[in-house]
Amino acid sequence: MPNAYLQNYPHLCAPLTLGKLTLRSRMCSAPMGFPDLTEDGCLTEGAIAFYENRARGGAAIVTVSEGCVDYAHGKGHGRLINLQNPGVLAGLTNAARAIRRHGAAASIELNHAGMLSAFDAPAGAAGDGNVRYGPVDALMPNGTVVRGMTKAMIREAVTLFQCGAALVKRAGFDMLMLHAGHGWLLHQFLSPRTNTRTDEYGGSLPNRARLTLEVLDAIREAVGRDFPIELRFSAMELGEGGMTLESAVEFAKLIQDKVQILHVSAGNDADFGVTHPPMFSKAGCNVKYAAEIKKHVHIPVATVGALGDPELMEEILSTGKADLVCMARALLADPELPKKVEQNRTEEIIPCMRCFMCHAERMLTQTRICALNPEIGREAEARSTPPARQRRRVLVAGGGPGGMQAALTAARRGHRVLLCEKGPRLGGMLLSEEGIPFKKPLERYVEVMSRLLAREGVEIRLNTAVTPAFVAEEAPEALLAAIGAEPLFPPIPGIHRENVIPGTEISRRLAEIGPRVVVLGGGLTGCESALFLAGEGREVTVVQRSALAKDANPRHRPELLRRLEASVKLRAGYTALAVTEEGLLCRSPEGTEELLEADTVICAAGLRPLASERDALRGTAPIVEIIGDCDRPGLIRDAVFRGHHAALDL
Ligand SMILES: Cc1cc2nc3c(=O)[nH]c(=O)nc-3n(C[C@H](O)[C@H](O)[C@H](O)COP(=O)(O)O)c2cc1C
Repeated sequence: MPNAYLQNYPHLCAPLTLGKLTLRSRMCSAPMGFPDLTEDGCLTEGAIAFYENRARGGAAIVTVSEGCVDYAHGKGHGRLINLQNPGVLAGLTNAARAIRRHGAAASIELNHAGMLSAFDAPAGAAGDGNVRYGPVDALMPNGTVVRGMTKAMIREAVTLFQCGAALVKRAGFDMLMLHAGHGWLLHQFLSPRTNTRTDEYGGSLPNRARLTLEVLDAIREAVGRDFPIELRFSAMELGEGGMTLESAVEFAKLIQDKVQILHVSAGNDADFGVTHPPMFSKAGCNVKYAAEIKKHVHIPVATVGALGDPELMEEILSTGKADLVCMARALLADPELPKKVEQNRTEEIIPCMRCFMCHAERMLTQTRICALNPEIGREAEARSTPPARQRRRVLVAGGGPGGMQAALTAARRGHRVLLCEKGPRLGGMLLSEEGIPFKKPLERYVEVMSRLLAREGVEIRLNTAVTPAFVAEEAPEALLAAIGAEPLFPPIPGIHRENVIPGTEISRRLAEIGPRVVVLGGGLTGCESALFLAGEGREVTVVQRSALAKDANPRHRPELLRRLEASVKLRAGYTALAVTEEGLLCRSPEGTEELLEADTVICAAGLRPLASERDALRGTAPIVEIIGDCDRPGLIRDAVFRGHHAALDL
């Protein structure tokens, strides 16, 4: 008889035995580098806590990343674990222990960036420390010079992988992941696009795979028979001349007897939107590659990319498309996802919206952050959050993301919380994105937060505006004011005409929006609204004075702009002069007046805080904290983080 707690997701919850190692389920934490490392590439306490948290959340394998086997010539970017530094051993050992003590298998990714190595010196600068090595001599598009590896260098690279493997085994890892995808060194040899060698390492697939096979043999020699190796590779790459699915199948067949898991990813370094599917891609869009590979091999196959929905993941396993599902971003948004699946608490899973905040912040600030999870990046600190010393009566004004998070955190700390929302539903500004297909996870987020608030015993009063009189009547000990913002209308003639709809109302008033639309304001919100409306069959023009979507993060922005360019007319450098019955009158960058004809003008010129309502609340309770858009309009992250911390400060 099946265990009652596992019957909803029997495939996801099934163990998998790999020789002497048994994985507790099929849900794994994909490799994610944690940027908080020391200068010489050692794991910090913060980094260890990050991986430990993934294990605590129930993942079957937690893959620490990224172990660089050649710190001098194989660093893909500035923050990697230096497997050549003897000082790294203690941190690695502590990480492996931290993962294992929560019942997960500890794994670590080994990689060499080859021709994509990054140095602190400017691209192209030669000199001993700044030479990139790859399969053949090459000049990168950014001017960087790459030298083809000699056979002696190839032998050295093989030895470095072997040394790295020996080190991680000594540190107590249960298994390792060898990275042969995403455009790094082993992929560079596998791909006919980058490998045009004419010796035994180039040409036919067996020749191009030779380096990977040699590395695997060397690693096996170092780690022994009972140490599982997971091989990560890309089953396709975009553009001409790269790896195809057919060659990936051949490669998988060639390699399968040397590894225990084939981890099928897709794309190379130039295909960021393939390796990391953006919010615009379908959930599980890369599963088809794993499914094809699986038909041809006899060992377990893992799939990765835009996964996190338990129903979809169960279906992938139950229909035999893969044996394991790996998640990166979904486990940032909710590290407890695997545990919630096992405990039939899937309705509590905070979904990832694939906004790329996590990836972008690594680039921008070398920090780890998640828009919806205020504890990511500070797990060590979060673990020791104490219950409230004094149980207070807390009134939260406003049911948007900041208010909901504030109420949840306050309730979890033991405060008695009343959350008032002036509208008929929770969600605040997030409701303005309802119905936008690529924002679906936000709808789910609001549902989940509403449920969690109810479970934590938060009293929710809808259709209730919090005024000073209301606060006086309730007499809370603390007031957390998250009352939001309102649309900003630029002071131009006609802006309040009937043919103008604020960007915050497009999904609610979609039926009123005519076939020709001009979006006034090409910030992130305006651009996303334009893309949505184009998808709804409207002919859309976006008008923006400066660069489009410049407030979007640098990972999301190119994906957004690429899609916009394909479906929307873009008018950057235009100044709006007036709204008329015919559309939007603008001044072009050349200084001429141009009427952009439209049935509807969407005003997406930004938000302004509800300042007078906010200021009226100051001083109405012993503690008053101002949260989110009513303080300063910003991203969801800003509201969620501020709400969480305001509640922690109580
Ligand atoms: C913040 C972040 C860091 C990542 N770091 C690594 C890494 O160090 N090595 C690697 O092979 N992949 C890395 N990835 C890629 C993931 O392992 C995964 O393949 C990709 O994010 C797609 O999965 P997802 O849709 O579940 O996020 C990273 C992804 C994210 C979001």
